[in-house]
Amino acid sequence: MLEKLMQKFKELYGENGELRTYFAPGRVNLIGEHTDYNGGHVFPCALTLGTYAVVRTRNDRTLRFYSMNFDSFGVVETSLDDLVPNKAASWTNYPKGVIWAFEKRGMKLSHGLDIAIYGDIPNGSGLSSSASLEVLTGVILKDIFGFSEVTMVDIALIGQDAENNYNGCNCGIMDQFASAMGKKDHAIFLDTNTLNYEYAPVKLPDAKIVITNSKVKHSLVDSAYNDRRNECETALKELQTVVDIKTLGELTEEQFEEYKHAVKDSVRQRRAGHAVYENQRAIRAVEALKANDIALFGELMNSSHISLRDDYEVSCKEIDILVDLAWKTEGVIGSRITGGGFGGCTVSIVKNEAVDTFVKEIGKAYLDKVGHEAEFYVVDIGEGARRLG
Ligand code: GLA
Repeated sequence: MLEKLMQKFKELYGENGELRTYFAPGRVNLIGEHTDYNGGHVFPCALTLGTYAVVRTRNDRTLRFYSMNFDSFGVVETSLDDLVPNKAASWTNYPKGVIWAFEKRGMKLSHGLDIAIYGDIPNGSGLSSSASLEVLTGVILKDIFGFSEVTMVDIALIGQDAENNYNGCNCGIMDQFASAMGKKDHAIFLDTNTLNYEYAPVKLPDAKIVITNSKVKHSLVDSAYNDRRNECETALKELQTVVDIKTLGELTEEQFEEYKHAVKDSVRQRRAGHAVYENQRAIRAVEALKANDIALFGELMNSSHISLRDDYEVSCKEIDILVDLAWKTEGVIGSRITGGGFGGCTVSIVKNEAVDTFVKEIGKAYLDKVGHEAEFYVVDIGEGARRLG
């Protein structure tokens, strides 16, 4: 793929000068959903799918962007003096947002860039194609402009800042963190309150992680996401009138049950309940994985789905169909919605010998029920973002 991208780069921008190449992965979250903006724990891993870039420096202040995924946009040209978000600039608002966030921190770019991008993460699937593009841009800037003091965690935070304050989605830190900090064959157990993290080996000799893409994306994604976040913030304020906490992630289930009366609205109470219980599930799931208790890990995934479906209400018909089908399939250890929700993907743990049937049977039943095909990816857990050449 990189070769094709390189060829395209030369075709568009010419052959001269030094070309550098970079990669940043997408992610799948195993458990701990909608906890990252509530001071809870998440457990994502980086994929081997991701976004690639070929880059060359320029002598002026021009920025040129091209993406093979948005070929019809052609080359989008802008300048370092025009770093304002602009709807018409489409996908280039992601890299521009990261440049803006670097400059805001005093890291000014002395010259422009020619960039060509290609990503193999299916767009809008909830596998963090936008976070991977942000982290990719961060790695490019750090490398090309020699911002050696910028760590990979900083790159994740800068990407989140760009997403929140330039692109208008109030996301947490999980996606950018997973893309920047991923480690082959490991998931990252991240405490989003402190940013302390630990790599946990995902050794599943008898099973595979399978992502199923529903291939639907409902339009509410961003607005409903921001609504959920606001509901949790209001619930937190209400809880703070009766208990001394800074985030929902500090509460145990028992404490939540004791204090939940302070949350005056039943919908908000369910939202906050999800955040508290899901955080505890994530903690328990990591312990289960360490103890090689994959069955318990799977059960916790299933409970996570039920909570996201009924209490947090971020699932949708198509995803529930996929999860129900998975739950009924022999050899499935656990299955749940993953990512922000309202479409996108499920993640399942499936016994090795059942993977083929899983893909075939669920693929067929989904097509019958929904009217279009699902896509399946057997996951390889990959490394975080980096320069390739
Ligand atoms: C999206 C956001 C993340 C996280 C998940 C839900 O992927 O970008 O920060 O909140 O949703 O867990």
